[in-house]
Amino acid sequence: MDSTAYKSGVTNAFKNAADSYDRGGVGFFTPMGRRLVELAAPQPGERVLDVGCGRGAALFPAARAVGPTGRAVGIDIADTMIEAARAEAARAGAENVELLVMDAERPSFARHSFELVLGSYSILFLPDAPAALARYPRIMTAGGRLAFTCPVFEADSFPFLPPVFTPMIPASVPAALPADWQPSELRRRYNSWLSDVELLRATLGEAGFTDVTVRDEAVPMTAESPAAWVDWSHTQGMRLLWERLPEPVAGELRDSLIAGLSELSGPDGSLVIETPVRFVTARVGS
Ligand SMILES: C[S@@+](CC[C@H](N)C(=O)[O-])C[C@H]1O[C@@H](n2cnc3c(N)ncnc32)[C@H](O)[C@@H]1O
Repeated sequence: MDSTAYKSGVTNAFKNAADSYDRGGVGFFTPMGRRLVELAAPQPGERVLDVGCGRGAALFPAARAVGPTGRAVGIDIADTMIEAARAEAARAGAENVELLVMDAERPSFARHSFELVLGSYSILFLPDAPAALARYPRIMTAGGRLAFTCPVFEADSFPFLPPVFTPMIPASVPAALPADWQPSELRRRYNSWLSDVELLRATLGEAGFTDVTVRDEAVPMTAESPAAWVDWSHTQGMRLLWERLPEPVAGELRDSLIAGLSELSGPDGSLVIETPVRFVTARVGS
């Protein structure tokens, strides 16, 4: 699969997921976005860009932090995500928020437009993230900050899922996926630079960043029930795989996830899964 096909697969998956994305009784992106913003510490009056902003899990906390004299711009390749985020901005009266359909691999802004660039669980979906990141310093101020999150990839974990899910994936799932969409292939082609901390530091250095910090922290993923979690998984990155599974195998995966998650549920059926997340910060080098 070439990177154009991968990118259109990603775009379509999120276009179709936007309506229910980050909704439906499962919490993960919202607390992660909040924590990312806490670590990035936007200051009143700053201009912030959120790449792959989705429905605004990081964008809205950032907009609140920069206040009325600052500006928070969210870009996303999925127009439906941008429409949903615009509706949320209107509902919240967030007048310092601007939302644009734009590819995060080629952000089109004037030089020195932003003091801070955020990307929560989005940079991992860029087919050539190292090249994309190298285009960011130009649109950032001298000493501008970059802060993003990604999964903590493990050698045998299923893409986009923490290791606790690995034993819940039946062998029929990888067997049914096309060669280009094999979990190991996705990780190797698009995310290997994120899995290895030394490679991550080197990639950011080559892209023009310095003072790189990498911290892995658990973010609680909460769900009302195993079934609610499985429904939610169709609205995030895992949708890329659901869309490519034939019905009998998708049914098998659903049953296996519900059985596995039921064992982790509390007495009321609800779930709290401590999910390792990689928080990365860096600064534009001089
Ligand atoms: C898992 S979601 C994260 C959304 C949001 N940052 C959050 O934390 O809820 C990934 C987002 O990245 C967006 N995305 C993927 N590839 C992109 C690209 N090339 N340019 C801009 N956005 C992209 C998707 O459309 C999706 O909204």
